[in-house]
Amino acid sequence: MKKNIILIGFMGVGKGTTARAYAKKYATFIVDTDDLIESKENRKIKTIFKEDGEKYFRDCEQQCADWIESSVDNSFISCGGGFYNVSNLKKLGTVILLDASYDWIFNRLSTAENSKSKLKKRPLFSEPKKAKKLYSEREEAYKKVADLVINVESKSLKMIIKEIHKNVYI
Ligand code: S3P
Repeated sequence: MKKNIILIGFMGVGKGTTARAYAKKYATFIVDTDDLIESKENRKIKTIFKEDGEKYFRDCEQQCADWIESSVDNSFISCGGGFYNVSNLKKLGTVILLDASYDWIFNRLSTAENSKSKLKKRPLFSEPKKAKKLYSEREEAYKKVADLVINVESKSLKMIIKEIHKNVYI
């Protein structure tokens, strides 16, 4: 069994922030699946969606998962919101879901200091109505694949990373 932490959850729930805080405290290596895809493609996620569509992006996510399976261990992997759907997710490490209600996430994103750019870089968050629908479609599926669910709504970053650390090997 791989010793990676696989952090999943809906867009804007705070996966990147959590990964950075965890890496700082516990000196782990972070891999961000969106960053990997952007580097390999040499273009932004929103450009990939615009030029080649969502299906192409999902294929990139699967390739990224295959690479992690063959080559990455002992790392903290922060995943894009749709990455939970790759076929080999459970082989990649311990899957941890950051969970919160849609309203909490929407509020977090829209009150963030750089809220405009946070929303703009996420093509599937361009229309809140559609994003809310996507959230309800995925809510149960996220929970099904997770080894551990952490509700983040009333927790500090410090509490969240402690809870992750208690439950994993790295
Ligand atoms: C997506 C989430 C995004 C990014 C892409 C698709 C999704 O990542 O991978 O825009 O399907 O939920 P974040 O969860 O980091 O925003």
